[in-house]
Amino acid sequence: MSKLPIAVIGAGLIGRTHIDCALNSPGVELAGIADPTPAAAEIARAAGVPCFPDYRSLLAQLKPRGVVVATPNVTHAQITVDCLEHGCAVLVEKPIADTLEDARRICEASRAASLPVLVGHQRRHNTIMRKAKAIVGAGALGRPVSATVLCTWLKPRDYFDVAWRRQQGGGPILINLIHDIDLMRHLYGEIEAVQALASNAVRGFEVEDTAAVLLRFRNGALGTVTVSDTAAAPWNWDLSAGEAERFPRQDINAHFYSGTEGSLTLPRLELWRYRQDQGAAQGWHDPLTVERTVVHTGDPYVEQMRHFAALIEGREEPVCSALDGLRTLEATLAVTQAAATGSQVVLTG
Ligand SMILES: NC(=O)c1ccc[n+]([C@@H]2O[C@H](COP(=O)([O-])OP(=O)(O)OC[C@H]3O[C@@H](n4cnc5c(N)ncnc54)[C@H](O)[C@@H]3O)[C@@H](O)[C@H]2O)c1
Repeated sequence: MSKLPIAVIGAGLIGRTHIDCALNSPGVELAGIADPTPAAAEIARAAGVPCFPDYRSLLAQLKPRGVVVATPNVTHAQITVDCLEHGCAVLVEKPIADTLEDARRICEASRAASLPVLVGHQRRHNTIMRKAKAIVGAGALGRPVSATVLCTWLKPRDYFDVAWRRQQGGGPILINLIHDIDLMRHLYGEIEAVQALASNAVRGFEVEDTAAVLLRFRNGALGTVTVSDTAAAPWNWDLSAGEAERFPRQDINAHFYSGTEGSLTLPRLELWRYRQDQGAAQGWHDPLTVERTVVHTGDPYVEQMRHFAALIEGREEPVCSALDGLRTLEATLAVTQAAATGSQVVLTG
């Protein structure tokens, strides 16, 4: 079976992860890289593939079947639309774009070209999340009531040596919280209203360092999220789910989902319920049982690349479509808007 030629545009921090995945995925071959930096040229040389300073030359010369767009947020829309117009399916890093208008452009270009766009919310490909989705989807929680999520850790001082990370849009809401909002949407469905408070009191940068968020889901459930990059705390997906080796894994939970019939913690996948053999006598005086599922570990980036290849070949539907990326971005931008205005933001989507 011939391998699918995939190109990577943007060979920075996350682009290198995609390059490694493309090099190591059985159904895929890395066709080339586009990035103007000398570091990217060196990565391409080591991988034995061509490097193009201008991604348009790559598209014209290599004609890949799929492209990973791993460039800065502000460039996502133009590059993704150009790829689609060249007949390439796209895996675009999160956030799908930096504005809703640009995210809609991508949705429209994907429709016009009849080509899939996958948004790089890689946590959806984690085996833990897949099991959680199956548990919630099977109705084990009953009617969803609440979701409580913590996204609190300490970013080191030198992380902020880069100017954009101290400015609006470079903070934990758009960089990190967006992943948690995407997971909450993945499990509970659409968000219809957002309220929030944000603070820059600790670091004193233009951008927030902490935010407290209230969400109302279309299914009636309510959610709360606390996000902070200035708290010496382990309660967040990155440190608890073991997704990347660079984060020391902690055996704790960061997400708590509750319904009328049961509750689920993540990433430990503990399902809390009243014993099924106790009939109707169920309430806070009765014993709760807990069942923990231990799933096989797997690298969500590798699984995302496998899925991208299957998408291109029309064998699977996108786990995180352009529309999903748009809706997740809309809810995340609403957090910033709600915090700035002090008003509830009602989502129209
Ligand atoms: N899924 C995740 O968990 C995750 C993690 C980190 C970053 N990201 C996302 O990935 C994207 C890139 O982030 P990063 O941290 O890797 O950034 P980075 O700055 O490390 O890398 C970006 C690269 O893109 C290149 N580039 C810029 N404009 C280009 C263009 N027009 N054509 C070709 N190359 C171009 C730059 O030279 C650089 O090498 C962002 O959208 C970010 O939000 C996602």
